[in-house]
Amino acid sequence: MIKKKVNIAVFISGRGTNLRALILKSKKKSCNYKIAYVISNKKNATGLKIAKKNKILTKIISQSFLKTEQKELAKILINKDIKFICLAGFMKILSSYFINFFKNKIINIHPSLLPKYKGLNTHQRALEAKEKFSGCTIHYVSKKLDSGKIIAKKKVKILKKDTIKKLEKRVLKAENKLYPLVLEKLTTS
Ligand code: GAR
Repeated sequence: MIKKKVNIAVFISGRGTNLRALILKSKKKSCNYKIAYVISNKKNATGLKIAKKNKILTKIISQSFLKTEQKELAKILINKDIKFICLAGFMKILSSYFINFFKNKIINIHPSLLPKYKGLNTHQRALEAKEKFSGCTIHYVSKKLDSGKIIAKKKVKILKKDTIKKLEKRVLKAENKLYPLVLEKLTTS
């Protein structure tokens, strides 16, 4: 019997390496999920090109993304039978309405070992604090920024000669590995 794959929506704002990693894994026959929809608040996001190349439906949302638009999008996502929403470099804060609507169905990847370094400039702050390790965290999205229940973390060692760029590159590599694995687990019933 062919098992139906779980539909996923990915929200992006830029480059889309995590989106690409999620898509790559989803193409495996054994994978439980399918990236069915990509949403971006930036019309020039490189990630949109990745989605289109892979024939995935895309949608641009407005910069303001007010409640009425969020309500409409929620309806569309339900109609498309989306079971999980993955934020992958999505640089917009979702409203309480949207978060409650998809309670425990929205996950985010963040480039630090949460609860440390919520928000922006995570690599710079980890280096300045002379941390021995940085890394990435996948967590459920809650109303408080980068504070929802943690699902998984991956540590990355900080090296003596690290710069923001170098550390970012290694953490991103860890993100691109971790996200597909976590999503695969979440969509296994
Ligand atoms: C990733 O490093 C992700 O963790 C970060 O944006 C980058 C997106 O890269 N997200 C956040 O900082 C959210 N708080 P990508 O577009 O190549 O996936």
